[in-house]
Amino acid sequence: MIIEIDKLNLYYGDFHALKNVNLSIPERSVTAFIGPSGCGKSTLLRTLNRMNDTIPGVRIEGDVTIQGRNIYASETEVEVLRKRVGMVFQQPNPFPKSIYDNVAYGPKLHGRMKKAELDELVERSLRAASLWNEVKDVLKKSAWSLSGGQQQRLCIARALAVEPDILLMDESTSALDPISTTKIEELTRELSKKYTIVMVTHNMHQAARISDRTVFFLNGEVVEAADTQTLFSSPVDQRTEDYISGRFG
Ligand SMILES: Nc1ncnc2c1ncn2[C@@H]1O[C@H](COP(=O)(O)OP(=O)(O)OP(=O)(O)O)[C@@H](O)[C@H]1O
Ligand SMILES: [Mg+2]
Repeated sequence: MIIEIDKLNLYYGDFHALKNVNLSIPERSVTAFIGPSGCGKSTLLRTLNRMNDTIPGVRIEGDVTIQGRNIYASETEVEVLRKRVGMVFQQPNPFPKSIYDNVAYGPKLHGRMKKAELDELVERSLRAASLWNEVKDVLKKSAWSLSGGQQQRLCIARALAVEPDILLMDESTSALDPISTTKIEELTRELSKKYTIVMVTHNMHQAARISDRTVFFLNGEVVEAADTQTLFSSPVDQRTEDYISGRFG
């Protein structure tokens, strides 16, 4: 298991947002977090690369172990962690820079590279994000000139450029049109051959289509975590059954 979450509790001030979460996430697979609004999906996703650190009043108990290391240990360097655990958000958020510079940004930050090496890395990342053919002749153009779906694939290329092992995606298709959504879903499946993907989605059909495992949350607790087919066809918990059959949420 590449990620092990053990007795994790998270509080925003007095509010207990994650309650005794225990979860193991296998390598090179897609894990989907589903559940009604406010149940803690994004909060849990953010604990995996310590994106909650900057939120005032957050308190975390328990352990998150990634590749055998406790990421909340005092010796953990958050910069190094975020290089291993990349993130793609709901709204495409490219920098106000060229397409090329968006992808080259992370690698430049993490070390000096020769121009030819950087060119090669930018191309490889754009290819991996299924965007290369659409942008190879306009690499100097502003990232903001791209469509929303292209911008989101650019953000995926930017995340891949620092060669992470894990990619976190928080409703990364919910701002996109159906064709762009399909492209990113196919891309996610493809990327899971090489990367571990943890995604939050509001869309149960999307979870069923592309994830290997699904985790259902309610009020900050994991209700059920299982193989996706099993969770949707024969859920064990009545609350899972009610949610997937559309009775609430
Ligand atoms: N920065 C914050 N400060 C205080 N409370 C917060 C903060 N962020 C989230 N919460 C609360 O924690 C709970 C879980 O929020 P979270 O954003 O993780 O839910 P979610 O499952 O991702 O919901 P959605 O599907 O609407 O995105 C909610 O009750 C929310 O109000
Ligand atoms: Mg959320």
